Amino acid sequence: MTQTLLRGRLLTFHRAPESGEDSGAYTYLEDGGLLIGDGLIRQMGPFDELSVQAGHVPVIDHRPHLMMAGFIDTHIHFPQVQVIASWGAQLLDWLNTYTFPEETRFASETHSAVMARAFFDQIIAHGTTTAVAFCSVHKASVEAYFAEATRRNMRMLGGKVLMDRNAPDALRDTPQGGYDDSKALIGDWHGKGRNGYVISPRFAITSTPEQMEMAQALAREHPECHIQTHLSENKDEIAYTARLYPKARDYLDVYESHGLLGPKALLGHAIHLEEREIAALAETGAHPVFCPTSNLFLGSGLFDDAGLRARGIVNGIATDVGGGTSYSMLQTLNEGYKVLQLRGQSLHPLRAFDWITRGNACVLGMEDRIGTLEAGTEADIVVLNARSTPAMALRMDRADTLAEELFVLQMMGDDRAIEEVYIAGASAKSVLAPDEK
Ligand code: GUN
Ligand code: ZN
Repeated sequence: MTQTLLRGRLLTFHRAPESGEDSGAYTYLEDGGLLIGDGLIRQMGPFDELSVQAGHVPVIDHRPHLMMAGFIDTHIHFPQVQVIASWGAQLLDWLNTYTFPEETRFASETHSAVMARAFFDQIIAHGTTTAVAFCSVHKASVEAYFAEATRRNMRMLGGKVLMDRNAPDALRDTPQGGYDDSKALIGDWHGKGRNGYVISPRFAITSTPEQMEMAQALAREHPECHIQTHLSENKDEIAYTARLYPKARDYLDVYESHGLLGPKALLGHAIHLEEREIAALAETGAHPVFCPTSNLFLGSGLFDDAGLRARGIVNGIATDVGGGTSYSMLQTLNEGYKVLQLRGQSLHPLRAFDWITRGNACVLGMEDRIGTLEAGTEADIVVLNARSTPAMALRMDRADTLAEELFVLQMMGDDRAIEEVYIAGASAKSVLAPDEK
């Protein structure tokens, strides 16, 4: 086995830090080493010790930069790479005016393949090594997405959106057609390489009850698959959902009554929740996903992170590009910090960096494989430079602690702060399109 020893400052989390002083929640090494081989982290520890044990292996020295687990984005839309930054609308108008017309283009295999390359280039450049994506309604978009993920050997999750009403003709499937396509895609892609299929009813408004029943059948037949959808993002959306599902007790009940909740369920936004819905989220172990840049951009509302966590709910955090305005999980933390400030809550940098790595891995039930730098996990690693812009360097001259450095990255960092990315042990940032070498 060929092995490589990475050297640098090193940070990995063992659990969510309860405060800024909770040093037992993480390991930080000023001169750390990561021995990687066959796509895995073989050993983590002080560089001196590892270099003696490893003998003559090539060393890549990233000092003074900071090595962490690659970032995980738990909610993003692959067919919205050219929707990001579309002006002036809230959710339902934004979908009808910009998003749905754009997604019709993903019926084309060629367009899907070109956009898949661009999408993967972007997420890697921003330090994201795992993402959970909605593809379009078309099988071709999912094929392109997983083909590109496979080519880059990335641990990626995603699925075809199920949508059979309230959308342009070219974007509608049928309950049976959506089921058949999803079933075929699961067979072709789930568990192939590092790919995971996600059953993806888009949201209550674009699926008939008949389609929700088919989503339920898929979920029952494929308990190994995650499920993703949108929940209570916008007040007009909630009112429309109530008209479309008059028997539902509330928005969440549309999904709950179709057996779609559980620890594998990822519910984007979850902003305007009723008490009954919060109790049901806690009981079922489903995961709300906080999408701060999107929630601010679309004027959707302020996520109640502390309120949900106090009920034992485990929240994800994500970009939601193209409603979200940046691929960067650092910028996501920046806006997340501000949203929570407006709610009188606080996002400490130690917790923030745990959240976009180990925390999001826990949301996916994958913390034994991704999200930390523990030996035996997959070697998806990001190398961060907190002095990547002159303004950051100036601020860093007054930063004395690890928490301060992390906060500079959280508030000011973006793709320029990403020095290097390793995917399954292979350098990826400097080689964005592997087959063009
Ligand atoms: N709800 C249903 N579809 C979408 C989408 O594409 N983006 C956002 N932000 N919300 C949605
Ligand atoms: Zn979304």
